[in-house]
Amino acid sequence: MKEQLLKLEKKAFEELQAIRADYELENFRIRFLGKKGLLTSLMKKIGNLSPDERPRIGKLANIARNNLLKFFEETRERILSGDSDEGSFQDVTLPGREQALGHFHPITLMIKEVCRIFYGMGFRVVKGPDVELDYYNFEALNIPRDHPARDMQDTFYISQNVVLRTHTSPIQIRIMENQKPPVSIIAPGKVYRRDSDVSHTPMFHQVEGLLVDKHVTFGDLKGTLISFLHRMFGAETRIRFRPSFFPFTEPSAEIDIECVICRGKGCRTCSHTGWLEILGAGMVDPEVYGFVDYDPEVYSGFAFGMGIERIAMLRYGINDIQLFFKNDMRFLSQF
Ligand code: PHE
Repeated sequence: MKEQLLKLEKKAFEELQAIRADYELENFRIRFLGKKGLLTSLMKKIGNLSPDERPRIGKLANIARNNLLKFFEETRERILSGDSDEGSFQDVTLPGREQALGHFHPITLMIKEVCRIFYGMGFRVVKGPDVELDYYNFEALNIPRDHPARDMQDTFYISQNVVLRTHTSPIQIRIMENQKPPVSIIAPGKVYRRDSDVSHTPMFHQVEGLLVDKHVTFGDLKGTLISFLHRMFGAETRIRFRPSFFPFTEPSAEIDIECVICRGKGCRTCSHTGWLEILGAGMVDPEVYGFVDYDPEVYSGFAFGMGIERIAMLRYGINDIQLFFKNDMRFLSQF
């Protein structure tokens, strides 16, 4: 009996020493110290010993059990604190933790795609400031002092002569001021208007385009924009040019594409017209050339501007513009 006890104690100590993970610890506890464990079973047999052996072996068994419990507790602490002398347990066969990859916001994706298409046609991508002088945002774009677009209702004023740009068109002026024709640029950016409802947010994005050279015609404008829209929305998409007005272009047009939802049949998205307005454009007004010192007798050109949220909503079938700015990961992770 004594030998059995010593052998068991030795074995238990060896196993405890080898333990590296907490599940092993639990297995050990059940196997040796549990109700039906090896040590417990052995101790139950003490009752069957002769009366003179019983106290001696009983004492020995209790010492062994206490030693084991003490070492078990020490081992448990070693595992839980993770600083085993021999390094903590590592299961090298486990698959690695997957790193969550970030990705672009849907608006950024659209801007990149629009710019890529125009870049392929020879346009250079440029930027301008969000905080803009009244001069660039309005004055040099032939928007007179009393034009409704200057109304306090629409524009965020920083001071009397400084605004948050209400469109990307001031970039046209900044570029022409600094560069002689030929000019062909595309300019994405944030714009700001005092407007907020289901289809408007006080900040949204536009992409501006400008091309000026000798002999540029309205036909060039049409060709460029049709080719862009076909690449953006598919070559089968019908396109319509409607006469319009902008103070800085003459003639001006608004360009519609066939409704991508109902394919021209008429639905809620297109207000049952079958068409969706997607771009403002026109031939640069000779008045504007006066502000940048271009000779309108020599040069002509076209400009266009489009709203990116609008394009993204059509491309992805999104019906609420506010979703773009709520930072809801359930929405954003779909793109
Ligand atoms: N800036 C105009 C707007 O915000 C769009 C536009 C750009 C129209 C260039 C014509 C030429 O509505």
